[in-house]
Amino acid sequence: MTEPVAAGQIQETQISRYRSTRGLDYDSVPWKLWEKSKKLFWDPADLDFTQDATDWQAMPDDERLLVALSARGFMVGEEAVTLDIVPLLRCMSDLGRLEDTMYLSMFAMEEAKHTDMFRRWFDAVGLDPSSLDDIVRARQAALGQGDRPGLFDGALTRVMRRLDTDRSPRAILDATLIYNQLVEGVAAIAGYRRWELTFRRLGKLPGLQAGIKLTQRDERRHIAYGTYLGRQIIAANPELWEWVEQRWARLTAGFGGGYGAAEPELRDRRAALGFDDEYEQGLIRRRLEALAVARTMNIAEVNASAVETFEPEELQHVV
Ligand SMILES: [Fe+2]
Ligand SMILES: [Fe+2]
Repeated sequence: MTEPVAAGQIQETQISRYRSTRGLDYDSVPWKLWEKSKKLFWDPADLDFTQDATDWQAMPDDERLLVALSARGFMVGEEAVTLDIVPLLRCMSDLGRLEDTMYLSMFAMEEAKHTDMFRRWFDAVGLDPSSLDDIVRARQAALGQGDRPGLFDGALTRVMRRLDTDRSPRAILDATLIYNQLVEGVAAIAGYRRWELTFRRLGKLPGLQAGIKLTQRDERRHIAYGTYLGRQIIAANPELWEWVEQRWARLTAGFGGGYGAAEPELRDRRAALGFDDEYEQGLIRRRLEALAVARTMNIAEVNASAVETFEPEELQHVV
């Protein structure tokens, strides 16, 4: 039998471990995001989908299909990011970044709420989203995405899980590039725009509209956090910039019409489904610019920046 560790020793180790005893950094960006998240809390269960269910019954099949595919795409994306935020949360926790960990716990819960919101909507209108699987596969092939390695179940998961064993500045930067800048800052924002252009004009489904607006309000903070983290790393490691540019070019190759842009037929088909290649290219450019400013900043300047300076302009109207 091993000797029990002296009680005094255990206390000594644990007492010095806890950062909150020495104060929390109320001026830090993650703390301010945490405060905002608490103030802007919402519950998907409070959304009223009654009118949506009525609208759904009266909608023509083609409208229903477009709405359902869009909602399914959002829901699957939200599920993927709910699962894949976990390694970043654990990484910040292991690095002793308490304010970041506290905000990321809220961030993770918000992604879970987004998944919850979309699934509740499907249940409310009485549609089984898995009945769309074959159509989704066919549509991916038609859009020239059939041979593209899956973003959500492939690269995103791989890059995020690498944080379990690699906490280097480059690994963390890679995680924020794919998660906050590509998935949230390009794919999701382009999705919201398609939603606005295609479905807002219908003047139907008020519950889903409200849920998407609340989701966008959370995403505004998520992207701000990723941009803050990315700028911190670039300010401290400016030599990584060349790699950032190359990595961003590779990550975004399948967006903005990057695959098959030369095929007019494919372009037309994408446009008919509401895909706006020029808009996506603008997003891709602006997300890189949002990080590039950190090349001339030091880490103290990044830390002292107002939260709004990290937010994507495309979501600043959502309050
Ligand atoms: Fe989300
Ligand atoms: Fe998010």
